[in-house]
Amino acid sequence: MKNIYIASDHAGYNLKEYLKNKFSKKYDFIDLGTNRASVSVNYAQFAHKLSKKVTKNDKNYGILICGSGLGMSMAANRHKKIRAALCYTVKNTKLSRLHNNSNVITLGSRLIKKNLAVKLINVFFKTNFEGGRHKKRVKSI
Ligand code: RB5
Repeated sequence: MKNIYIASDHAGYNLKEYLKNKFSKKYDFIDLGTNRASVSVNYAQFAHKLSKKVTKNDKNYGILICGSGLGMSMAANRHKKIRAALCYTVKNTKLSRLHNNSNVITLGSRLIKKNLAVKLINVFFKTNFEGGRHKKRVKSI
């Protein structure tokens, strides 16, 4: 079964809650925290927590949100089987799935609008990896 995990730091908390609510009928996101915007936390802690869950099964995916999306993607990409893509346009989101078989989408809550975040999540989950020539490139990451 495919599990979709979601996590954020304090800067990403509001967008995380917004996305959970927006997609509540479509997906059952498993929320790994943080659980408030008022207390500053370390984004890396949440990126590692989510990455450990996602790497347990090839069918798992993750959504990570911090202020810029940068710290989350850097931390998540330290995990061997994580391919975290910092997404900010429909095109780069689509390509991250088509060519790179991304399994984690990272978003910068301070840099993109909420409705774009919704669009990117939709694109992320409806786009499939192209495979073919991309397979061995992805493997060599
Ligand atoms: C928190 O202020 C901020 O540094 C964090 O959310 C993130 O943008 C780090 O990459």
